[in-house]
Amino acid sequence: MSKTNTVLEQQNIYMQKVKALVGELYGQPKACVNTFGCQQNVSDSEHIKGMLETMGYVITEDPTDADFVLFNTCAVREHAQDRVYGNIGTTKQLKKSRSNMIIAVCGCMAQQQYVADRIKNSYPYVDILFGTHVTHKLPEFLYKRLNGSPRIFDISTDNNEIIEGIPVHRDKSVKGWLPIMYGCNNFCTYCVVPYVRGRERSRTSAEIINEAKLMIESGIHDITLLGQNVNSYGKGLSEDINFAGLLRKLNDLPGDFRLRFMTSHPKDCTKELLDTMAECEKVAHHLHLPVQCGNDRVLKEMNRHYDRETYLSLIEYAKEKMPDIALTSDIIVGFPGETYEEFCDTLSLIKQVKYNSLFTFIYSPRPGTPAAEMPDNISREEKGRWFNELLEAQDVIGRVKEKELDGKTYRVLCEEVSEDGLHILGRTNGTAVIEFEGDTSLIGSFVDVKVNIVNNVLKGAMIKEK
Ligand code: 5AD
Ligand code: SF4
Repeated sequence: MSKTNTVLEQQNIYMQKVKALVGELYGQPKACVNTFGCQQNVSDSEHIKGMLETMGYVITEDPTDADFVLFNTCAVREHAQDRVYGNIGTTKQLKKSRSNMIIAVCGCMAQQQYVADRIKNSYPYVDILFGTHVTHKLPEFLYKRLNGSPRIFDISTDNNEIIEGIPVHRDKSVKGWLPIMYGCNNFCTYCVVPYVRGRERSRTSAEIINEAKLMIESGIHDITLLGQNVNSYGKGLSEDINFAGLLRKLNDLPGDFRLRFMTSHPKDCTKELLDTMAECEKVAHHLHLPVQCGNDRVLKEMNRHYDRETYLSLIEYAKEKMPDIALTSDIIVGFPGETYEEFCDTLSLIKQVKYNSLFTFIYSPRPGTPAAEMPDNISREEKGRWFNELLEAQDVIGRVKEKELDGKTYRVLCEEVSEDGLHILGRTNGTAVIEFEGDTSLIGSFVDVKVNIVNNVLKGAMIKEK
């Protein structure tokens, strides 16, 4: 038996033990999982919920109703961390009114020693804290703590193996996340991810294809492949495969579904990948290619390994191959030492690329990263002004991009019912979400919708059912 199987086998035994124990203790145990941060965390939480269900817990959104409350945390920006501390703080009262309640903290924030220490010392009601390398050991931690073990703190990093076969509870029935690799080797100077998620490691194509098949069989029609840098998929595997090759294999699976992926690093984004996207009919025409900033000096300081011109030529190539491509990006404003003139290069870049939408962030120093040691003379207020300028520029671009859809017909996947309960929200092969009249039986099917923009809202009318 391989080491991975043995690890899983042990946890399966713990899951059965916890199930018996919590059944006695709570009757019908309930668990609340709070997720912060990126899609990788959302996916990890789906596995945590899968384990909890196997242990007999029912998943609830309401922490006041839960016997087990978990915070799966994000460390990418300080603000995200502060929110988590605030949220953990509110459980102190909860625990007073519910004896036997277990509180756990995990994820990227927990993986950092200084955070683990702070939680150990200042949040005595947190029972279990574990890092990103031992998520699969939740059943063991829970069993030990329920059996009276002292508080558990485990941020060990010795397990760099991927543990396959952890049960999964998918939050959505129509679209789903499929991790293809974990970790990051890039060490962008502002980013904490390589420190908290460890080195890159890829799942085998056989495991990924198996999971994709199960997802498609269960009715999922939109699969997003996940990794910090999907373009370096396959490195270190014994099989000879790269990301483009994986996309082709997945594209060959039978069924009516779309494939998406994130995140691509521009330094590893190849013409081969863009050709593959253009040739594979199931791969959505959406490229999330974070540029971070448009100035070469700043890009170098960020350790990004590409320059503005190379980035723009990739974008040109993508547009040439896929004229309907939807482009999105991440931007950091106010990297240490960035001047207003350099920031203006970011403004001109976004105007040149014409992104459909942007994820924008003000630089946040992360302890332990090289950028946190760099001199930073621009005030928060000044950075805030640049940030607003960026948002305003993108607002105009995004609106123009949306107008391009007006009057045209698109094949959309009906994903969910609108908030007012009267409309269906359907996503195009790109990133646009169109609201149109229809009944809930459409959820999960592809339909053609003709767009009609009303008051800047993407509305539409269904043409025919497919
Ligand atoms: N400050 C601000 N934004 C950051 N990101 C990563 N680290 C930081 C930081 N220290 C952003 C990058 C990345 C996205 C996921 O988060 O834009 O692409
Ligand atoms: Fe962070 Fe850069 Fe890795 Fe992305 S590629 S996770 S920004 S270090």
